[in-house]
Amino acid sequence: MRLRFLVAYGPTREPLDPVRFLSNYSTGVMGKSVVLAAKKRGHRVESVECPSGAQTALELEKVLRRLTPKSDVLVMAAAVADVRAAGFSAVKIKKEKLRSIRLVKNPDVLAGLARRKKKGQVFIGFGLESADLLKNGRGKLRKKGLELIVLQKVSSKNKPFGDKTVDATLLDAKGAVKRHVAITKQRLAVELVKRAEAIYASKHF
Ligand code: CTP
Repeated sequence: MRLRFLVAYGPTREPLDPVRFLSNYSTGVMGKSVVLAAKKRGHRVESVECPSGAQTALELEKVLRRLTPKSDVLVMAAAVADVRAAGFSAVKIKKEKLRSIRLVKNPDVLAGLARRKKKGQVFIGFGLESADLLKNGRGKLRKKGLELIVLQKVSSKNKPFGDKTVDATLLDAKGAVKRHVAITKQRLAVELVKRAEAIYASKHF
C-alpha cells in the first residue's frame, strides 16, 4: 500500500518588523524523521518545512489548503505560533515603543483543514501540554478532527525540543492510548507511519 503523505514541520515565525519575529523552540526533528520513515516504507512524501517553506501561520494555512486535498495522510508537526503582531512595521521599531506589542490570534490551521477533510483521509496532530495531558489531548483530537494525536508533556525542566528521546502518549479517535517512554524521535516516527497505515487501511478495507 503506497500512500501520499503530507508532512508539515518546524516553527512558524511572525515578523514584527524587518529585524524581529515571534516564534518558538521547535527544531523540526520530529517532522523530518516522519518524512524519512514514510519514504523508507515506500510512501510518496510531500513536505512543508517552516519557516523556509511557509513562514507565518497564514502562509502555512494557504500552502496546506492547496496540498492537503491531494494527500492520504497529513502529519501536522508544525509548531504554529498562536498569535501574530496586529500590524507589521516596515521600518525597525524603536526600543521605546517595544514595551508592549498588540497581538491578534492566528487561525487554528489544523482545525481549519479538518473542516475540509475528505472521507478516508488520516490526520495526525501533536499536542504539548503542561498539565491534564489526556483530558486536553482528547479535546484537541476532537476539535482538530484527528485520527491520532501525539501528546508530550512540557515544562521548564522537561522540554521535548531537538534530537532527543521523549515520552510520548499516542491517543487515537477510538480512545486507545499507547505510551512510549524514552523513545527516540526516529523510532517514534516509524511508529506513527505504521499507525497511519493501519488507520488508513481500517477506513478503506
Ligand atoms: N496547530 C495548528 N494551528 C495553530 C496551533 C496549533 O494547526 N494555530 C496544530 C499543531 O501543528 C499541532 C496541534 O495543532 O499539531 C496542537 O498544537 P498545540 O500548540 O499543542 O495546541 P494549541 O491548539 O495551540 O492549544 P494550546 O496552545 O491552547 O495548548
